[in-house]
Amino acid sequence: MTQKILFVDDEESFPSLIRRHFRKQIRAGEMDCVFAANGLEALQTIQADAEVDIVFTDINMPQMDGLTLLEKVHAFKPQMKMVVVSAYNDMKNIRTAMNRGAFDFLTKPIDFQDLEITIQRAIKEVAELKESQNRLHSVQTQMIQSEKMSALGELIAGVAHEINNPVGFITANLETTEEYLTGLAEVVQLYQKQFPDINEVISEKVKDVDVEYIIDDIPELVSSMKEGTQRIVNLSTSLRTFSRSDVSNKVEFNIHDGIDSTVTILKHRLKANIQRPEIKIVKEYGDLPLVECFPGQLNQVFMNLIANAIDALDEYNDGLDFEAAEAHLNIIAITTKVTGNSEKVAIQIKDTGKGIPQEAINKIFEHLFTTKPPGKGTGLGLYISRQIVEERHRGKLMCNSTPGEGTEFIIEIPIVSPPD
Ligand SMILES: Nc1ncnc2c1ncn2[C@@H]1O[C@H](COP(=O)(O)OP(=O)(O)OP(=O)(O)O)[C@@H](O)[C@H]1O
Ligand SMILES: [Mg+2]
Repeated sequence: MTQKILFVDDEESFPSLIRRHFRKQIRAGEMDCVFAANGLEALQTIQADAEVDIVFTDINMPQMDGLTLLEKVHAFKPQMKMVVVSAYNDMKNIRTAMNRGAFDFLTKPIDFQDLEITIQRAIKEVAELKESQNRLHSVQTQMIQSEKMSALGELIAGVAHEINNPVGFITANLETTEEYLTGLAEVVQLYQKQFPDINEVISEKVKDVDVEYIIDDIPELVSSMKEGTQRIVNLSTSLRTFSRSDVSNKVEFNIHDGIDSTVTILKHRLKANIQRPEIKIVKEYGDLPLVECFPGQLNQVFMNLIANAIDALDEYNDGLDFEAAEAHLNIIAITTKVTGNSEKVAIQIKDTGKGIPQEAINKIFEHLFTTKPPGKGTGLGLYISRQIVEERHRGKLMCNSTPGEGTEFIIEIPIVSPPD
């Protein structure tokens, strides 16, 4: 990583002296030196360039001296590592600088060996600080996300539970209704047989309500209602499987149940629309054992990856007319198997969407990286998915893509969770 360092000195020959001395590090891309001739100029540079994390500053300069610069910079960027360069024996200024939070001080004439050691120390501290900031940031995102998910999970599980009760009595009453209707139909048919000569009023009514048709149609009517309620039951089971919120401990889980429930929830997005025909899900499931995991979180990963695949297919078809879209194979293939000496399961989710351009492939897992318009994508899906797979499950999330042809994501999870 290149470390940008700002040197502040009003001595004209100073920049070339520094550049000459650090030419190797600059050429190797380890260091990038920027210069300012006084405190004011330095302040403007720091305000405009967030990459400057280390400053070496002289004290006596026109317009703004080094000690004032130190104070002003720390007011808005307290983590800046500032090294003050003072005249030998200038204890008063050195003390003031240290009291104002300077990282260190050097004396003039500059001893380059000393300067290098100080730079290395500052670089190390900046790197450590950034690392701990990143860690904090990632824990924070994870906490917000898991909180959101568990609240959402509870809500979904609650709704699914509430749906189950009315569906339960519809299902039970449907059985009875079928029995009643069949019985009534039998009675009507018996009447017709026993009393073929009915009066005009009744025969008019029989024609009017189309009794023959009704009697014929009853079994189909009931069976379609049964299918409808069964679908609601399946959906509610899927919702409950999907939103399992086992947050504190890993449990043994059937990965296929997780994938199936996710696909059920996303079904409405797979249907044909004016842009393209239906997206087909092709499942090729291996013989998987139960896997120790946080089911709710893994389901979230499946959701992110399958939703991305649908988006990629939609984007592929966007520029095509319907015939061309129909000619294209709109497929999401989901394959599972045991790998890695029977220690891991691998889940591959492969689409025939627009693919990922070479220049973006290294960025897709970054926090907030998205190519989708505002409101459609936040750039969090893959970032969170990688955290869930790699940090929470010690697995691996990998991606291969050929632009214009499609993309595959592979999730690998240890079957037995390794100790933390
Ligand atoms: N299957 C895929 N095919 C093509 N591009 C993809 C695929 N999956 C991800 N990408 C690219 O990676 C980017 C980041 O994906 P990610 O899921 O992190 O965010 P997003 O989908 O844009 O937003 P969201 O936060 O709603 O998930 C996407 O914007 C897209 O450009
Ligand atoms: Mg996404």
